[in-house]
Amino acid sequence: MEEKRYLTFALTKGRLASRTLELLEQVGITCEEMKDKNSRKLVFVNEELKLKFFLAKGPDVPTYVEYGAADIGVTGKDELLEEGRRVYEVLDLGFGKCRMCVCGPAKARELLKHHEMIRVATKYPVIAKDYFYNQKFQTVDIIKLNGSVELGPIVGLSDVIVDIVETGGTLRENGLEVLEEICPLSARMIVNQVSMQMETERIKEIILRLRQKLS
Ligand code: PRP
Repeated sequence: MEEKRYLTFALTKGRLASRTLELLEQVGITCEEMKDKNSRKLVFVNEELKLKFFLAKGPDVPTYVEYGAADIGVTGKDELLEEGRRVYEVLDLGFGKCRMCVCGPAKARELLKHHEMIRVATKYPVIAKDYFYNQKFQTVDIIKLNGSVELGPIVGLSDVIVDIVETGGTLRENGLEVLEEICPLSARMIVNQVSMQMETERIKEIILRLRQKLS
């Protein structure tokens, strides 16, 4: 019989990976090697199930999956929207829930109402552009930042920000608030388009088991 090929998972480093591994474990997909916190390995293997796992930065997960370096990936919906990669989004895993929002000081609410030319700081320029240009028909100046985006309105770089809000704690502690909600977000499972054709049975079985567990 022909040897099964490895199915490779790209997981998002950090909390999302831990939640994903917990969920996979509940449907019999385990990787003992990954539990060794002292390991410096980058790729972990379950020889018995012919599975491989690696950890990557969230925005890179759709890239690995589009190019086929991973068959399956798990990352946030925010990264999928921002990266716009050609992958199949197959499952909402229901954790990592948060919202993409326009936030700022209360006084910025007026600027959004009157379609004024405003400055928007964000880690997500594609999402911000789509929201303001295509949904609100408001021309804005988008400024890309790489983190601590809340600083934007505080130090006078921008009028508002487009950013992820989970508990709202960061906003509250910095005198900012949600002004408009763009979309809800959560962790999603994605699949490489060719893998879906070549490994249909194995991948569908994984999706099915996860779907049953999540329902
Ligand atoms: C994210 C996001 C907000 C914060 C929201 O930042 O960009 O800053 O979490 O969470 P909260 O509503 O629960 O306060 P992250 O911690 O990923 O760091 P970053 O600012 O460097 O992007």
